[in-house]
Amino acid sequence: MIGLYPGSFDPITLGHEDIINRAVKICNKLVVAVSQDNQKSAFLSSEQRINLIKSIYKNYTNIEVISYQGLTTEFAKKIDADFIIKGLRNPSDFVVESQMAQLNKVLLDEVETIFLDSSDQLRSISSSFVKQIYHLDGDISQFVSAKTLKLLSELK
Ligand code: PNS
Repeated sequence: MIGLYPGSFDPITLGHEDIINRAVKICNKLVVAVSQDNQKSAFLSSEQRINLIKSIYKNYTNIEVISYQGLTTEFAKKIDADFIIKGLRNPSDFVVESQMAQLNKVLLDEVETIFLDSSDQLRSISSSFVKQIYHLDGDISQFVSAKTLKLLSELK
C-alpha cells in the first residue's frame, strides 16, 4: 500500500515528523509530498524543504520525498497512492481537513483520506508559529528536529 502525506512543510516540524513516523508503519511506502501550490507565502524554497526532509529520513528506504504542483488528487493518481494521510491537531484542523477530504474524494473516489490524531504534546505546533517565533528570535528547539534547527540557524 502506498500512502501519500502532502503538505507545505515550511518548515517541517516535530508535529509533521510524528505523523510521518506513525504513517510509515501503516503502509509499504510513504511519499512525503511538498506542495508548491500553497496559498501561504513560502519561507523556505521548495528545494530547501525537500532537501531538509530527505536528510531527516535518509535512512528510511520506504520513505520518498517529492515536490509536486497542482492538485493533490492528480499527484495521488500519478504515484498510484492508495490513501492520503493527514494529521489532525485540533477542531479547526478537523473543519478544514474534513472539507478537503470530502472534495478530494469527489475528485478521486478510489483514494481515501486517513486521519492520524496528533500526539498530545505536539498539538500546538504549527509551521506558522514556528516561523513567527524564529523571526522574533525565540527558541524553536522544542518544536523542530536538530536538522531543521541547524538549517534555520544557518539562514539567520
Ligand atoms: O501543510 P498544509 O499547508 O496544511 O498543506 C495543505 C495542502 C498542500 C496539502 C493542500 O493545500 C493541498 O492539497 N494543496 C494542493 C492543491 C489541491 O489539491 N487543492 C484542492 C484541495 S480540496
